[in-house]
Amino acid sequence: MSSVLVTNVGELTTNDSTLGDGSMLGLIHDAALVIENGQVSWVGDRRLAPPADRAIDAGDAAVIPGFVDSHSHLVFAGDRAAEFAARMTGHPYAAGGIRTTVSATRAATDETLSINVAHLVDEMLRQGTTTVEIKSGYGLTVADELRSLAIARQFTEETTFLGAHVVPPEFVDDPAGYVELVTGSMLEAAAPYARWVDVFCERGAFDGDQARAILQAGMAAGLLPRVHANQLGPGPGVQIACEMGAASADHCTHLSKQDIEALSSSGVVATLLPAVEFSTRSVYPDARALLAAGVTVALASDCNPGSCYSSSMPLCIALAVREMRMSPGEALWAATCGGATALRRDDVGHLGVGAKGDFAVLAAPSYLHLAYRPGVPLISSAYAAGRRVA
Ligand code: NIG
Ligand code: FE
Repeated sequence: MSSVLVTNVGELTTNDSTLGDGSMLGLIHDAALVIENGQVSWVGDRRLAPPADRAIDAGDAAVIPGFVDSHSHLVFAGDRAAEFAARMTGHPYAAGGIRTTVSATRAATDETLSINVAHLVDEMLRQGTTTVEIKSGYGLTVADELRSLAIARQFTEETTFLGAHVVPPEFVDDPAGYVELVTGSMLEAAAPYARWVDVFCERGAFDGDQARAILQAGMAAGLLPRVHANQLGPGPGVQIACEMGAASADHCTHLSKQDIEALSSSGVVATLLPAVEFSTRSVYPDARALLAAGVTVALASDCNPGSCYSSSMPLCIALAVREMRMSPGEALWAATCGGATALRRDDVGHLGVGAKGDFAVLAAPSYLHLAYRPGVPLISSAYAAGRRVA
């Protein structure tokens, strides 16, 4: 048994509405929490805290649950800085850019890929992200998808098979043949290393029928579905996600009224990735319409070398508030509890009793500063299961 008391917390976000001020964030002022064997065992007024083996003094700063980044593509080699620069002078973002990263990734050694992922995961920890989902999707051969997922698994349980990211060059004349490969031997090799199956359902990637077939095959292999949906234009992605009971429809940039209704009635989480819109200079998703319809909204980074090479959840929060008119509280909830919901996890994203002791101490008196002070490194330390990780 080992216990740690985190005390002198000026403002604690628990995301447990039965605690503190009773809001969605369950805010407690002058708070403390105790973590025993990696899990929160007590939370409340610091003057009432029970003793523990050791103490961490938060110095009156704000403490928040560690961010849950439910959408990232970290297994890749190379970068596409030149493509970004071209975009900033007017070239539009297109799905085909993914193929540049596919060649670089295929040419890289396992060691290079692992080092790249380790570097990005560390970058995330330093920005307060303690749970991350990682997708494959830049290998697109049986061997390269398999090794991408095996590498991702060294860093997280939340791994996603995205063999259906784009049709690789060797299959441009035979997309049906590629879907057959993805749903056949590639899926068979990938499934032991993946929890989720995903498909990029978009013009230039996979259409509705292909997306359905890929998700169905993944589900038959025991994987749970999530979908890249309605990113570059309107399309069937969101409806398919709802129809198939996906945990989450991600991007949701171009939604019809029917899409919003389907998300609302199915309970599928809408995962918004505003750093993508920032980095591709696109319109932002209509977060207010989703929230008004009662849809559960998550925020994630989508960190990848093409559409968004940022791993920063604080940036996502600042953009969600400034550009999508989410309140700072809605944005923080979406980046923590929302992400956990998108991954069907109830042990992370909050700091109620029983939660994993994953939290970040801010160099600020309140979580409000995450949006109020954009671009400022406000994470002074991060802890996973009560142990300091950054
Ligand atoms: O989520 N949309 C598909 N996949 C990534 C982009 C990948 C890339 O451009 O390399 C995304 O934006
Ligand atoms: Fe993505």
